[in-house]
Amino acid sequence: MKKKVLSCIQPTGSMHYGNYFGAVKNWVDLQEKYDCFYGVVDYHAMTMPYDTKKLRTNVWDLIFNLLATGVSSENLFIQSLVPEHAELSWIFNCFASYGQLTRMTQFKDKSAQSKEAADNFISAGLFDYPVLQAADILIYRADYVPVGKDQEQHLEFTRNIAQRFNNQVGKEYFVLPETLYTDVPKVQSTADPSRKMSKSAGVKHYISVFEEEARIRKQIRSAVTDAGEVKAGEMSPGVQNLFSLLKASGKTQAHDSLLEDYNAGNLKYSDLKEEVANGLIEMSNAFRAKKAELNADKKNVKNQIKASSFEIRKRAQETVKEVKELTGLMNVRF
Ligand code: TRP
Repeated sequence: MKKKVLSCIQPTGSMHYGNYFGAVKNWVDLQEKYDCFYGVVDYHAMTMPYDTKKLRTNVWDLIFNLLATGVSSENLFIQSLVPEHAELSWIFNCFASYGQLTRMTQFKDKSAQSKEAADNFISAGLFDYPVLQAADILIYRADYVPVGKDQEQHLEFTRNIAQRFNNQVGKEYFVLPETLYTDVPKVQSTADPSRKMSKSAGVKHYISVFEEEARIRKQIRSAVTDAGEVKAGEMSPGVQNLFSLLKASGKTQAHDSLLEDYNAGNLKYSDLKEEVANGLIEMSNAFRAKKAELNADKKNVKNQIKASSFEIRKRAQETVKEVKELTGLMNVRF
């Protein structure tokens, strides 16, 4: 039996190489070895003030982007098509520690952001977010959760809920999920290598995975290389970033030989940039082609995802049925 992997992502606009190399590529690779569950979590996307008219569009956009970049449709589900996540989340509210919730750093960060926003509203959902996340994970009895370091506190919280549940019902029912750390490259903005590649900083600070050739070349050519503080004998953040993009795009030979040039002191940045641009362009061309294919038959793609969500829902329903049994709740029978 294959071990189970679960991860989820919130629907937000377009996908850039920071998202792709930092998370999505890992999802794609894990599909070979594990039984994977990947969710687009729209219930989570409601925890901060949001545009009700755009949520559904954002969900489908993300689904198409994930499919175009290599996630298999049978592993993908939309969270609100599996409403058992919300049901289990309520049950878990009663096994989750209020005090521990008050110590979540993501809540502190995000509620601070909300305070600055126009309507200054912090929802109870934002506070309760980690309980829903625990339900996402435990509902499929996932063994591993591939996420970044920032999610470790939520994973610990998830394990605590599972433990308390198991203790209360007197049975080792839930698997305690582990974080799956993988060596993902850190992708910085090429315009300002001191910050992460991100959409919020503006167009110069990210490269879409579906970007056209000419723009990629232009953006990589103008990548910052030597600006900022560089200690003697250390590679500058901009050059480091270009090397990691090159490696991430699979150009290992070019990477190794250009690194030799660098170490010998005769690397031409224009050569490095040329290769990085070539690497990204090859990938973007493939992603764009795949996306065009999917866009040509949108209806069919949507039906596939509804069908996979339906299949995945069966596994969630089984867990919720057993949980209701174990906790003394009623199961509805039609
Ligand atoms: N909280 C995660 C994030 O901010 C998204 C998420 C929701 C998630 N549910 C999850 C991640 C379950 C892993 C497992 O990125």
